[in-house]
Amino acid sequence: MKKHRSWLTMLALLVGLSLNAQITHEMVVKANKPGAEIQSTMYGLFFEDINFGADGGLYAELIKNRSFEFPQSLMGWKSFGHVEVRIDRPAFDKNPHYVRLSNPGHPQKHTGLENDGFFGIGVHKDAQYRFSVWARLPQGTGTEKFRVELVSSKNDPIVNQVITITSADWKKYEVVLTSPITDAKAFIRVFLTSNGEIDMDHLSLFPVDTWKGRENGLRKDLVQALADLKPGVFRFPGGCIVEGTDLNTRYNWKNSVGAVENRPLNENRWHYTFPYRFYPDYYQSYGLGFYEFFLLSEEIGSEPLPIVSCGLACQFQNTDPKAHVPVEKLGSYIQDAIDLIEFANGAVSTKWGKVRAEMGHPAPFNLKFIGVGNEQWGKEYSERLELFIKAIRKAYPNIKIVGSSGPDSEGDKFNYLWPEMKRLKVDLVDEHFYRSQQWFLSQAARYDNYDRKGPKVFAGEYACHPKNKKNNFEAALCEAAFMTGLERNADVVHMATYAPLFAHVEGWQWRPDLIWFDNLNSVRSVNYYVQQLYSKNKGTNVLPLTMDKKPVTGQSELYASAVWDKNEKAYIVKIANTSDNTQTIRLTFDGVKQEQLSDGICTSLHSSNPDVENTLIEPDAVKPEETAVHLEGNVLSIELGAKTFAVYKFIKE
Ligand code: AHR
Repeated sequence: MKKHRSWLTMLALLVGLSLNAQITHEMVVKANKPGAEIQSTMYGLFFEDINFGADGGLYAELIKNRSFEFPQSLMGWKSFGHVEVRIDRPAFDKNPHYVRLSNPGHPQKHTGLENDGFFGIGVHKDAQYRFSVWARLPQGTGTEKFRVELVSSKNDPIVNQVITITSADWKKYEVVLTSPITDAKAFIRVFLTSNGEIDMDHLSLFPVDTWKGRENGLRKDLVQALADLKPGVFRFPGGCIVEGTDLNTRYNWKNSVGAVENRPLNENRWHYTFPYRFYPDYYQSYGLGFYEFFLLSEEIGSEPLPIVSCGLACQFQNTDPKAHVPVEKLGSYIQDAIDLIEFANGAVSTKWGKVRAEMGHPAPFNLKFIGVGNEQWGKEYSERLELFIKAIRKAYPNIKIVGSSGPDSEGDKFNYLWPEMKRLKVDLVDEHFYRSQQWFLSQAARYDNYDRKGPKVFAGEYACHPKNKKNNFEAALCEAAFMTGLERNADVVHMATYAPLFAHVEGWQWRPDLIWFDNLNSVRSVNYYVQQLYSKNKGTNVLPLTMDKKPVTGQSELYASAVWDKNEKAYIVKIANTSDNTQTIRLTFDGVKQEQLSDGICTSLHSSNPDVENTLIEPDAVKPEETAVHLEGNVLSIELGAKTFAVYKFIKE
């Protein structure tokens, strides 16, 4: 009997499946009813120095511990012969350590240093690398020489230059080395070649070909990947980095500006946060600091969104209230936030506006947003935030303030903070969710019933985390499905940023991540392409789209949203089919005259393998594909393949 029943169930399922396959889903877009405006900030970037995202990643410096300021001064270096670390009469007061190289004592012996950068130094054949060093002659007279050379991973010197030191005072020297080979794991070696002594500090090696050719530059392929996302907003510097493991290690923006040689080093909490992904030599040089961030935001067309410390060290790691700044002593932290706005926007006659101008940007950066605190929670957060809000509103009434809803997408902390954010009248509330596929699919209607009168939403950190933590196709498809809900609710959701952004394949602590790289190449994940499809097809106004008069939020495993782009005069519809079947859809553009619509383009992402990833070895495993689509009048008949995300675009004639 039992056997019988299971056969019957199977039969019913099969009938059900084939019926489902035959069903034509009627979707209607109210094409003549453009609704809520979609903010230019809707899709953007979340940047944090995690996974060697800054030092060893976006920041193109190739030498690790260039200023000898790591707690173990020679960490990252191998020294031979007579090398001494000193701090007397330093070149840079905030980075006082330097090395003295002196005669090894025998003509057959050598004095010098080696540095193998971040998991090796990546060099490309025929590319140029600028080596620079601050040096002086401690004995004060004559000349001394050293040789700097690039050495291949097989220990073959591949190119060198000799530098002659002529000054008793600290002075910058530089040479350009052209690599004859491509090697992901070359290293650099410095040999004292004369008989006296040389003091050296801030040994630096950058590709000449950085983003926009800047000397303190950024890695070009990685910036290009960011620019290609057309990000509307750019959050920086994190993430937990903002808070610090303790307040001493919080991100202090004032240490990240001014002469790069004199920006004090900070510990990177990601070197020890996960002991199973331990990187004891992970520090923040702040070479990519707040000036570079504002400049990059401007260049890639994003609104900068700095997040500042609210005086609470990471609450996960600090249960003792004494770890945090007492409310009555928050003054300097609040001043830091106010000064940051002045650094971005102030006239050159102001203290911080002058610093910005001296760094090369007299015009203001036109900062519009600031976030206070990262994943904070409880009364201890809201009472501190309240003071920041009061002071910022007084000094800069037009700056929009972002508050936090804590680390969770729901639950006690979240439920406490949302009403608090309303009470405090923040402009936007930062929500974070690193959740499963099921969570993402179940939350496609998350914002449909959000309060329209309260603060707006900034989905400030999110990513679908499958069990294997891969950037696989299935996770990306779930994100695409979920994002139809962000788009449909663009009146309340004003910003969304996937997180984290970058990961070095040999140095990651957290995954999935949007863009992976090694020392030579980078790869855009499938999730990247989902973000890009949304961002490039953002539109200007939401259009109502329904199936059986309801928003499409998972019925028959379909998810959909639509927008109008008034600049391009385009209708854009996004549909995710997360089911295992091809589904038949009849999409009607209601309220538009038939002759006004031309044929369009469908851009889709699909794979029959849910687990497939784009990797450095197979970067194009899943990429958007374009096909022409034909309208019959104002109706589009679609056979949408199983496990497919598709974006349809039609221009109105
Ligand atoms: O994105 C990685 C981390 O996740 C962020 O630093 C933190 O805000 C969140 O917990």
